[in-house]
Formats: sequence, C-alpha cells, structure tokens
Amino acid sequence: MCGIVGYVGYRDCAGVLMDALSKLEYRGYDSAGIAVFDKGEISVAKSKGRLADLAEKMEKTGKPEGNAGIGHTRWATHGEPSDINSHPHSGERVTIVHNGIIENYKVLKDFLVKEGRCFKSDTDTEVVAQLLDYYYDGDPIATIAKVTRELEGSYALGIVFADFPDTVFAIRCESPLIVGIGENESFIASDVPAILKYTRNYYLLEHDEIAVLSRYSTSIYDLHYNKLNKELKTADWDMDAAEKGGYEHFMLKEIFEQPTAIKTTITPRIVDGLPNLEECGITMEKLSSYKQIFVVACGTAMHAGVVGRYVIEKLARVPVNVEIASEFRYRDPIVSEGDLVIIISQSGETADSLAAMRLAKKLGAETLAIVNAKGSSIAREADMLIYTHAGPEIAVASTKAYMVQIAVMYLFAFEMALAKGMISEDECRRLTSLLQQTPDTIEKLLEHKETAQYIASSLINADSLLYIGRGLDYALSMEGSLKLKEISYIHSESYAAGELKHGTISLIHDGMPVIAVATQSALFDKTISNIKEVKARGAKVVIVCRDSYNPDTDVADHKFGLPDEVEDLLMPMAAVVPLQLIAYYTSVLRGNDVDKPRNLAKSVTVE
Ligand code: AGP
Repeated sequence: MCGIVGYVGYRDCAGVLMDALSKLEYRGYDSAGIAVFDKGEISVAKSKGRLADLAEKMEKTGKPEGNAGIGHTRWATHGEPSDINSHPHSGERVTIVHNGIIENYKVLKDFLVKEGRCFKSDTDTEVVAQLLDYYYDGDPIATIAKVTRELEGSYALGIVFADFPDTVFAIRCESPLIVGIGENESFIASDVPAILKYTRNYYLLEHDEIAVLSRYSTSIYDLHYNKLNKELKTADWDMDAAEKGGYEHFMLKEIFEQPTAIKTTITPRIVDGLPNLEECGITMEKLSSYKQIFVVACGTAMHAGVVGRYVIEKLARVPVNVEIASEFRYRDPIVSEGDLVIIISQSGETADSLAAMRLAKKLGAETLAIVNAKGSSIAREADMLIYTHAGPEIAVASTKAYMVQIAVMYLFAFEMALAKGMISEDECRRLTSLLQQTPDTIEKLLEHKETAQYIASSLINADSLLYIGRGLDYALSMEGSLKLKEISYIHSESYAAGELKHGTISLIHDGMPVIAVATQSALFDKTISNIKEVKARGAKVVIVCRDSYNPDTDVADHKFGLPDEVEDLLMPMAAVVPLQLIAYYTSVLRGNDVDKPRNLAKSVTVE
C-alpha cells in the first residue's frame, strides 16, 4: 500500500522526506514524489519508478530547498503507474498525498468537472486535492472538515496549503497515520519505521482527527476545531521489526492483514448489496454469454482457481476447467471464441501465466485477469481486469493474495449466477452479505493462533504429511499442503479423501500426520469415514472442522475449530486461515527463513 511522510523542522526537508520514504519501501510501490515549501512556494518533484529514479530526476531538475513538506510512495489502485499519476497531487492552492481508496471519487469528479475543474491524472487522489481547493476559503481546518465529510472510503492525507507556508496538515480515516514529535521538528508518517531515525515519540492519529504541524508547535483537533490532548507513545521497535509492523515475519503480518485486504478488495465492487464488476469491464450481458470458463494460473493462484471452480459450477452451472499455466500453454488446449479464460496472478508477471493468457487471446477467447500488482504485464494485456487490493505481499508464501483472489472469485460467481438466472436477486444479495461477513470471521479465528502453534509443534519432525478433504475441502487441502511444503521443507501432498483407498493409503504408517479438512456438511460423514480409515492405520490426525463437532479418539488427535455459523460455500475463507498458520508456525519452529524460503522467488518470471 502507499506510504505517506511529512516534515516540519530545521533540517533539509527533501532529504528527510526521501530518507523517511526509503523506510517505507517494504510496503511496495511503483512511483514516488515530494512537495516542499521552497522560498514560500510549493515545489513538487515526482516520478514513476523507485526513489532512486526520483532522486536522479531531482539531480537534473533541482531539488526543492526548504524545511517543510510532504512525500509519498504510491502503490497504484486508480490509474496506472506513471509520472502524472504519482503523488503529490495539486489543486490551485492545495497539494496532497494520500494512502487509501476513495470509493465515491467518480461522483465527486463528475461534480468538479461540471464546476469547471480540469484533471490531469486518472487518480482518485487528485479528486480530493481538487475538492479541497474547490471548498478552500482560507481556513484549512474548516476546509478539511468539510471535504472529509463528503469522502467515502479509506484515506490518510498529508496536506499543504500555499498560503500557510511551512505548515503541514494531516487527517485519516481507516488508513493509519502517526504524528512524530522530535526536538523542534515534527513528522507525519504511515508507519513508525519512517521516523525512527529522528524520534521514537509519536501520536497515533485517530479517525477524523486533524494534525497541524508548524515550525514551533504541533496540535491535533477534532472536526469541530476542539484541540485534543493525546497520549504521546514511544516506539520500542528496532528498525527491522518496525517494517513488519511489530510482527516477527511479513508472512504473519500478511495473514493478519487478510480481513482488511478482503474489505478493501470487495467493498468497491458491491453496489446496493449486489456484486458489480462493471468497472472491470464485466457486464451482466457478458456474464450471461459465457458457455465455458478456463481458470489458468500457477501455485497458490491456481488453488484459488480451484475454489472458484467449485463455486461457479455450483451456482452458475457453467463448466470451469482449472489449468496449471505451464501445462495449458503447451498442451494445445481446446479454447475457442466465446470462452472466457481467467488468469489469476498476485505479481502479474508470472511467465507461464502471461504466456497462457497470450495463447488464450490468440485462440479467440476473452481474457479476464485477477491481479494484485498494479500495472503489471498480465494486468496490462488482459481484455478485462479485476485488481485485488491486498497491498504488497512481501512474504514469498502467498496468503492475503490468495484470500482476496478467492473473494473475487466468489463475487464473480455470484454475479454470473445472477446473470444466468440461476439465483434470485435476493439470494445473490444474501450470499454477498455472507461474503462481507468473512473479515469478522477471520478476525475471530486469528485470536486462536496459539492452537495452530500447538498443532505445528506436533508436525515439525514429520518426514511427510497428507492433507485430505472432499469438494471445497479438497481444494483447501491443496493450498494447505503447498503452504507447508514451501516454508517448512516437509514433504506433503493433498489428496481427495475419497481417493485414498485407491492406493495412496498404503503410505500411512504409525505416527504419520494427516491434516483433514472437514467443513462441507453434505460430505462430512464420508470424510469422517475416510479419516477413520487413516486413523485406524496409525495416522496422527489434525481435523479442521466446525466448533460444534467434537471428534472421538478414533477420529482425530487435534482439532482446529471453525465458527458453526459460516455456511459451507464460504468455508474456504475461514478454513484456509488455520492451514496458513499451521504452515507458518511449523516453519518458525523448524528455524527456517519463513519470508524467504530456500529455492523460491516471489515472482517466477522465467519458465
Ligand atoms: C505461493 O505461496 C507461491 N509462492 C507460488 O505458488 C505463487 O502462488 C505462484 O508462483 C504464482 O505467483 P503469481 O500469483 O504471482 O502468479
């Protein structure tokens, strides 16, 4: 996600901003910029690319000289990575940097265009800058209060007004923002690492609080101009820990970011309680026309496709083929006009997935990409595009990206089923509401992370594990197995529980761990029978099932319970969390490099 910094003090502001932004690079970004009061004027420098590119540009064009300003690293959500879409964005008298998503930016932009405002960029942020400028009446706090009452979505804003030199304003809603307090200097930042070099003391800005940083004072107000007395906090993190937000590893941080990632991804795609993917080029007419769907991806992204297949086929009754991209591209697939090929990719740069998409287009199919990295190759070349808004995923083992990929597949399946007339609008609204409840479900599950840690301690000396399940539980077992393998280095494989007796059950030996996913009510008794088959042959069974089921000793040795109220169809959003945590803790307990496991790269851009 984006990074915001601001500074007011006695130092070279541009230098401080660039240094502070470098401490936020871990958040991932595709462009950067700063705005500094230079001899009383706001001077802006911004560039697509890395901070080094911005520094190089300033070497050529001249670095703004001054002691107050704002800075930004952009993780694109609206508008491709480019110089013009980089922050800061300006009106005539107001310049801002923004982290978050303004969900009603189109309505606001239409209003401003009608009022004669011209826009340079494709961003939602520029709409905020222009709206601040439109309402600005000489009182920055009153203007900020007025504008933020019109905004819907998430935002952390750093703001400078031309006629308030050497003063930085800030406000937040959802997106985090802190106010750092040093000796005769103050800061704003999206996260603690940005200011640790200068101070450990900071205020946590709460929702709808306005910070005013000037040369000799820092104040915080509510929207009614009341000055607030805030508790000054002290960061006791070291630098490395700080970049992980206090988590030991990026992977754990990203597992815990999943509720927010789901909300940020699905909320803009739900209108009046129904899925609405129009902004991605997906109309109801298109959805009703497809007769066959291919989902093509690699690794975890492919596993998200397997979940999608079950849901789309169950609800929309359209056949879905899930394909490994490296196989699809070489097997001369039977794909034709009218088919839809969905490419799922976190990085948007996976070579096999990109090649598969190009082949699908050559064969006449329409392509839809579900991608996390903005402006990536797959995103740019697809006919239709749904961005997931998980923010940058740093850990090699994908967790939050997988979660938002299946969330998007659910939205797609609901809307396709509605378009095909297979479900009513009421049922579609009900299912969509269930999906919107999953972040809260995951929040509750994450409170039981110690259960996963205890289960992991029983796995760390295993030579090999089986993950088993039926239906959606089988789809989940694929992801659970890959997570464990890639970060613990313990061999495992996922197996359809009903297929075990056709050979693989011969692998079961005394003490062999088997992780059984049993959430699907219609298949529950059969899955329990399969579990008993392995248990009877000496397996140590971990069962992932609803809280209300208490397994006898002839069924399981450990249990990770899931909320009873989650419906079968949505269970993957819940059941994957213990599987992620079990893999994470197994890796930690084995002393592995959890975030950068051996032999792996985050994005496989080669064949
Ligand atoms: C995920 O845990 C793996 N690291 C890997 O399987 C990954 O999902 C796969 O390489 C696909 O990457 P992509 O989503 O960026 O295309």
